[in-house]
Amino acid sequence: MPTHLLSLQEFSKEELVWFLDRALVLKKEKKAGAIHCQLAGKTIGLVFEKPSTRTRVSFEAAMYGLGGQVIFLSARDTQLARSEPLKDMARVMARYVDGMVVRTYGQQVVNELAQYSTVPVINALTDLHHPCQVLSDVMTVIEKKGPIEALKIAWVGDGNNMANSWIQAAGRLGFELTLACPQGYEPDAVILKEAQAQALGPITLVRDPKEAVASADVINVDVWASMGKEKEADARLRAFGGYQVNDALLAYAPADCIILHCLPAHRGEEITDEVLESRQCVAFDQAENKMHMHKAILEKLIGKK
Ligand code: CP
Ligand code: NVA
Repeated sequence: MPTHLLSLQEFSKEELVWFLDRALVLKKEKKAGAIHCQLAGKTIGLVFEKPSTRTRVSFEAAMYGLGGQVIFLSARDTQLARSEPLKDMARVMARYVDGMVVRTYGQQVVNELAQYSTVPVINALTDLHHPCQVLSDVMTVIEKKGPIEALKIAWVGDGNNMANSWIQAAGRLGFELTLACPQGYEPDAVILKEAQAQALGPITLVRDPKEAVASADVINVDVWASMGKEKEADARLRAFGGYQVNDALLAYAPADCIILHCLPAHRGEEITDEVLESRQCVAFDQAENKMHMHKAILEKLIGKK
């Protein structure tokens, strides 16, 4: 098992399956009233450069739920905001905490922290990846639809951090993934090529969202302007016309497909209020599962189990 969780690419299929199986067990145990204390005596530091509701609270709840402690740092309140080198930050933090959970812009930030840190670094979202989210979303899909290898997953919209992590998940876990993205908003070309080369199932990029959702068991949607891209919001609104997940698009999809949105959502843009509030949409189960998945991740990486 790798020391750090920077993207899903570093993990084998068996390691990803371990996280999925363990998160499902931890969820069941919590529902049954079990008290966990695997991480008693351990502390993690959360260093966040972008806003967060779900990821921050679910990591904190997960750590406390395993008997551990959390220190939250908004990056702007640290010396990083005054240009302290990442390699110094990494070595200092590692003297205080047993792991770092980091949300930032560039993937190179988490990569460099990991290079210099003697404790695990966990990627809680960068511009390039959102690996912990996609792991918990795969968990939600398995709960709702059964073994993931047999399923057809669609991605509709921006080829963003979430899309890149779904591509890596498909490469490792071997399900069929079809992404419909407008021209100029495709996922990372290197990540796509690498995953396609190793994938057991096809990973396909198309333009037409109707083509992606036809025969899909799962439809994934995310915002059109991710954090850090707010200035492009108007141009993106124009580019993504026709990519909204609404009743008209769902008419082309199987009636029993489920809709995933990692939230926060912009109702009326990438998804309609009706679809988000419909029984087909599992966004709030996804949000819950982040906590169970983060427990599995923390137990494995911080507890070294
Ligand atoms: N899905 C997700 O990462 O949400 P937050 O930005 O609220 O953490
Ligand atoms: N793609 C979105 C995900 C938010 C959880 C973003 O990066 O803002």
